[in-house]
Amino acid sequence: MADSQYNIGVFDSGFGGLSILKEIRTLLPQYSYIYLGDNARAPYGTRSFETVYRYTLEAVTKLFEMNCNLVIIACNTASAKALRNIQQRDLQRFGDDKRVLGIIRPCTEIANTFTKNNNLGIVATKGTVTSKSYEIEIKKFFPDITITSHACPMWVPIVENGEYSSDGADYFVKKELDALLRENPNIDALLLGCTHYPLLLQKIRKYLPEHIRIIQQGEIVAQSLQSYLQKHSTLESSLKRANEIQFFTTDSKDSFNAIGSHFLGQEISSKKITL
Ligand code: DGL
Repeated sequence: MADSQYNIGVFDSGFGGLSILKEIRTLLPQYSYIYLGDNARAPYGTRSFETVYRYTLEAVTKLFEMNCNLVIIACNTASAKALRNIQQRDLQRFGDDKRVLGIIRPCTEIANTFTKNNNLGIVATKGTVTSKSYEIEIKKFFPDITITSHACPMWVPIVENGEYSSDGADYFVKKELDALLRENPNIDALLLGCTHYPLLLQKIRKYLPEHIRIIQQGEIVAQSLQSYLQKHSTLESSLKRANEIQFFTTDSKDSFNAIGSHFLGQEISSKKITL
């Protein structure tokens, strides 16, 4: 195969990964990206380990077939439940040049920069919270940080249904933040540990005390990808530099275009795909 012809794949259960892609493209606009949202089967956050693994493997396989040699799993739930299995069990059979990266590790490595008083709140899906991936990883680097994780089961369905600006969203955002703060009133930073949650940022800011810093993953993941590519020059030089992007969804392309465009701040023209 000729050099410099591969795309970077970005995968999420639905729209959330667009919040990651947006920052990756801001920092690294030169490459060619393929975004795949499995909207037809979202949310993943309440599904079993086996199901999330199977769905994620299907999506990663599809992105490799679409000429990606690097796939970013831009979904915390899939990073928590499927990434390690895919890296250890499946990756080899796709070929030596294929790579899959998740989005939890880049955030846990710098978790000490988020909080000043060592009290970090994390909001995420039920799947991510019960996996304890954040706790396990952060404790390895920073054992002194107290982590309070809280699952927000309604937030992803609200986003997937385009209701993130509605009054109904206020109710559920306030409810979960109040519960988190009851659990640990001392947190001074809140990590949005689900890629869908930046769509609810305005509401989260509205109901969170002002002194609590909100951490989003997009820029962190983009910077981590940039330094990964600097360290992996063979992979980097195999990437196509066409400054382009293609969008695929497993559900209606019209609703993907409407909601996705709003979030990405640019027109999206997606194609429907079957996994
Ligand atoms: N956006 C995904 C995440 O970061 C999860 C959404 C879902 O539940 O499907 O965890």
